[in-house]
Amino acid sequence: MVAGTALAAGGTQDWRKTGSANKKLEKLVEALPVASNIMIEMGERYKNLYWAAKLEKWEFAEYQAEEMEELIVKLKVTHPELRRTADEFLGGVYPRLPKAIKTRNWEKFTVAFEEMRTECMACHGKNEHGFITLPIPKKASSPVLDME
Ligand code: HEC
Repeated sequence: MVAGTALAAGGTQDWRKTGSANKKLEKLVEALPVASNIMIEMGERYKNLYWAAKLEKWEFAEYQAEEMEELIVKLKVTHPELRRTADEFLGGVYPRLPKAIKTRNWEKFTVAFEEMRTECMACHGKNEHGFITLPIPKKASSPVLDME
């Protein structure tokens, strides 16, 4: 035990192999994605969602909406300080967005998408990032949509 602790303290040691359980836990917490890591993916899915619906790839749109919900759940776990506003977002967007996608109706989808877009930006505003605004996406990057 003493030897383990001494090893973990060494700067060149690999904490994954020689760190104490506590050190490993501490490092794992440090290695959690920061909010902007999660949000970069969210931004990609936001664009893919819109264009999947526009191109009538409804199953892909459904999948994007599910993954976006999971990203918010991940945000809640990794960033407890965002839990309250994340729940407000989920309550304001889900399950309305997946329901609208299920209708396979562009008009209904755009209403739900607009509600979501507003809620995304509302959460940014509530968390001192109101300058992060989200226009309607002009294109999407997923190879599945093949828009180039
Ligand atoms: C729970 C609150 C919350 C919700 C909901 C939320 N965001 Fe964010 N978002 C943030 C925060 C906080 C940041 C700034 C992250 C940071 O500084 O670490 C951010 C940043 C971003 C960024 C900029 C990322 C970068 O670093 O360039 C994008 C893009 C983004 N969000 C997209 C979205 C989209 C799209 C939605 C809705 C589908 C959304 N966000 C919903 C809290 C939220």
